[in-house]
Amino acid sequence: MLWKNSLNESVEVVRSGIVCVVKECRKVRYRRFGRLNWEVSVLGFGAMRLPTINGDPSKINEPEAIKMIRYAIDHGVNYVDTAYMYHGGNSEVLVGKALKDGYKEKAKVATKMPIGMFVKTREDLDRIFNQQLKRLQLDYVDFYLLHGLNKDAWLKTLDLNVLDWAEKQMAEGRIKHFGFSLHDEFEVFKEIIDSYDKWDFCQIQLNYVDTESSPRTPGIKGLKYAHSRELAVVIMEPLRGGMLATKPPKEVQEIWDSAETKRSLAEWGLLWVWNHPEVSVVLSGMSTMEQVVENISIADRSSPNILTPKDLELISKVRERYLQYGFIGCTKCRYCMPCPQGVKIPEILGFYDEFLRSLGGEAKRREIMEKYQATVSSENRASACVKCGVCEEKCPQSLPIRKFLSEVQFFFENIPPPSLSRDVSR
Ligand SMILES: NC(=O)c1ccc[n+]([C@@H]2O[C@H](COP(=O)([O-])OP(=O)(O)OC[C@H]3O[C@@H](n4cnc5c(N)ncnc54)[C@H](OP(=O)(O)O)[C@@H]3O)[C@@H](O)[C@H]2O)c1
Ligand code: SF4
Ligand code: SF4
Repeated sequence: MLWKNSLNESVEVVRSGIVCVVKECRKVRYRRFGRLNWEVSVLGFGAMRLPTINGDPSKINEPEAIKMIRYAIDHGVNYVDTAYMYHGGNSEVLVGKALKDGYKEKAKVATKMPIGMFVKTREDLDRIFNQQLKRLQLDYVDFYLLHGLNKDAWLKTLDLNVLDWAEKQMAEGRIKHFGFSLHDEFEVFKEIIDSYDKWDFCQIQLNYVDTESSPRTPGIKGLKYAHSRELAVVIMEPLRGGMLATKPPKEVQEIWDSAETKRSLAEWGLLWVWNHPEVSVVLSGMSTMEQVVENISIADRSSPNILTPKDLELISKVRERYLQYGFIGCTKCRYCMPCPQGVKIPEILGFYDEFLRSLGGEAKRREIMEKYQATVSSENRASACVKCGVCEEKCPQSLPIRKFLSEVQFFFENIPPPSLSRDVSR
C-alpha cells in the first residue's frame, strides 16, 4: 500500500516494520534508520575510495569525485560516509566541497572519531572534532561514529570517558546522532551495545563471505542483534573492498554462469546484503562514475528478501569456494598506511591475493611476479619490511601482514622467509 509521508514522498510498507520510500523521478529506495523518524537511502556513498590522481591516495580527483557524489545525491542518495583519515584527511575536505551549492540540504554526513588510532587524551577529542568540522565546513555532524571499535578501543573509550564527551557535543547540537563502527567479534559487539543505551546506530562489515562472527565482524548474528535493539545498521565493505566484484577464478565463474537470472558480480554482492531486512543502508566505496550509475540502478531493484532460495544456494556455493581458496582478505582500506619503511602493503597484498585466487601454479606465479617487479619499486617491496608490526595494530581485518610479506618475498622476490607455512603448490 502507498501513502504520502511528511516530505510528500510515496511510502510503501513492504512488511511489518520495514518501510521503503519510492521517490518518483529518483532512483534508489529507502529504509527506516533504526528508531529515528527518518528514512535513509538504501545506498550510501562511502568516501574512502574516491578517484585519485597518479595513484596517490591523498590526491583526490576533485572535479570527478564531486561530480560522482552530486550525481548520487541527485538520484536520491542521502547518506555520505567519510572519516578523519580517509585519503590522508582529504576525504572530509572533499565531502565538504561536494555538499556546497545546496547539496547539504539533500544529504546527511557521517564522519568518525579515530579513537583507536589517533586519540590519546580527552584534549585530542576536541582538537580532532574541531578540525573535522572545519574540513567539512559544517558546524554540526549528522551522524558521528567512534571509528573502528574493538575490545581495546572500547576500553580506551571507557577510560577517557568518551561517551560523556559525545553527550556534551550532542547537548550543544554539534553531533545529531551517535554511533560506532566495529571490527571485532559478536561478543565484543554485544557488550558495546549493551553497555550504553544511547547508541542510535552502528556500522559493521557484512558481505556474502563475511557472514559469521570473526575478528572482522559480528556477522549476521550481530546484524540481527543490533536490529533487535532498534539500532540502525549501516553496512560497510559489502563487496569486501571490491574483491567480490573482480574477475573470479574459473570455478566460481562457472557457478555464476549456472544462475537462472544473469547478474553482474556487483549486483549479486549488493543484493545479498540488501536481502536482509535488518539492514538500513549499504555503503559502497565507489571509485568511478560507472560504478555509481550501476550501484544506483541495483539499489533501485533491491528489496528485502528479494533473492530466491535458488539464488541463495548459488551464493553459498560461491562463498564455500572462496573460503576454500584461503584468499588473504585485504580490502585495500589503507588503514595500515603509511608504513614507516615505505612498504606498499595494500598493493603488494593485492598481487598476492591475485596469485592465491588464480590457484597458484608456476606460469601464473611468474606472470604476477613480473607485474609486481614492474610496478613496485625495490624500496617499496616486501623485502623492505623490518617486521615492526605497526601495520598489524591498525589493520581492521586483523591480517598477519608480516607473515604475508614474508611469503611474498619468497614467491615474487625469490628471498626465502624464515618459515613458510602456506601451501601454494596447487
Ligand atoms: N568504519 C570502518 O572501519 C570502515 C572500514 C571500511 C570501510 N568503511 C566505509 O564503508 C564504505 C564501504 O566500504 P568499501 O568501500 O570497502 O565497499 P565495497 O563495496 O566492499 O568496496 C568498494 C570497491 O568495490 C568495487 N565496486 C563498487 N561498485 C562496483 C561496481 N558496480 N562494479 C565493480 N566494482 C565495484 C570498487 O573497487 P575498485 O575501486 O577496485 O574498482 C570499489 O572501490 C567505505 O567507502 C567507507 O566509507 C568504513
Ligand atoms: S592490510 Fe589491512 S589495513 Fe592494510 S589495506 Fe589491507 S585490510 Fe586494510
Ligand atoms: S611490519 Fe613491515 S610493513 Fe608493517 S609497518 Fe612494519 S615495516 Fe611496514
